[in-house]
Amino acid sequence: DDFEGEGVWRYADALPLSEGVTTQEGATPLYEVPRLEESVGVEALRIKHEGMNPTGSFKDRGMTVGVAVAKELGVDRLACASTGNTSAALAAYGSRGGMETLVLLPAGKVAAGKIAQASLHGARILEVDGNFDACLDIVQELAAGGEAYLLNSLNPFRLEGQKTIGLEILEGFLADYDAVPDRIVLPVGNAGNTSALYKAFRELVQAGELAESEVPKLTGVQAEGAAPMVEAIENDADEVRRWEEVETRATAIRIGNPVNAPKALPGIRETGGTAIAVSDEEITDAQRDLAGEGIGVEPASAASVAGLRKLRAEGIVDDDERVACLTTGHLLKDPDAAAAAGNDPEPVPADTAGVLEHLRS
Ligand code: F0G
Repeated sequence: DDFEGEGVWRYADALPLSEGVTTQEGATPLYEVPRLEESVGVEALRIKHEGMNPTGSFKDRGMTVGVAVAKELGVDRLACASTGNTSAALAAYGSRGGMETLVLLPAGKVAAGKIAQASLHGARILEVDGNFDACLDIVQELAAGGEAYLLNSLNPFRLEGQKTIGLEILEGFLADYDAVPDRIVLPVGNAGNTSALYKAFRELVQAGELAESEVPKLTGVQAEGAAPMVEAIENDADEVRRWEEVETRATAIRIGNPVNAPKALPGIRETGGTAIAVSDEEITDAQRDLAGEGIGVEPASAASVAGLRKLRAEGIVDDDERVACLTTGHLLKDPDAAAAAGNDPEPVPADTAGVLEHLRS
């Protein structure tokens, strides 16, 4: 269609297919945030807002590729486990591709906007009495048994599409600063994006398009209550220990067993990056900071900015760095979190005099 060769598909040469099942994903904004840049104290700060994708998260970039592969394979049922965003994207892209979708969600731990999307796009929604990691265990067994085609980030075609986040960030920085960013800070759940960005940069280095020394430092941020990757980085461990108990307000990254860790740990280490955990309060503060620049994100997304602020305060990030923070999902994904973090509505009478009196009191 008209969209061919744009957004994610502008990078078709780096993808396993030349066209996807598309709703015009990618080409997201790389916002300037002058006040935040100043208060964090870095040379340059840009926000790559993946919440501006069709279903409101970066998952669309992976689904446009993954669902197209499933269609080529002639699969009729697609499935995923999800903290919400993957299920919304799978439901939308699956229905666009004319396939059935099945999603397994942790009961009571998925934000309202995401369930609404999965529901209206026609997914069959199974609410599992367990956390995300349990949902992923089950759906992997279903897929292995031939019940459905798996579209979690264990599916390599998803990560191929997500590489384009990294390519767009590099292009944006080259256009505006004539140099790639020193560092990319991103929230980590299953570490799919961390793996995908690392793969994108390695491919550029192998192709002679990017010097090894220019590869941005991949810097992962997790919530304190769900930080197995941070633990592994801090302990210099070869493997990530699965956390059975996880909790955070940032439900999108309420994950104890980051399945892409074997690919992501080398990505963080070999680029000279790091990983840090932030509290729910720090996440909410960062969500307000972004909102104060007109950028609406869900809690997990704000973790990137919260992590950058903390690393800068600890002197791990230098003041001369140019940094991109990835914000992965839109504010409207989690309206309850936004309302709790923001101003309360004030009841007033239905007449101007009463409103004026209220404003002046
Ligand atoms: N941010 C948001 C908003 C997410 O939805 C997710 C993952 C992440 C960050 C973490 O990304 O896995 O690449 O490290 N959400 C998945 C889901 C788990 O089911 O929607 P990652």
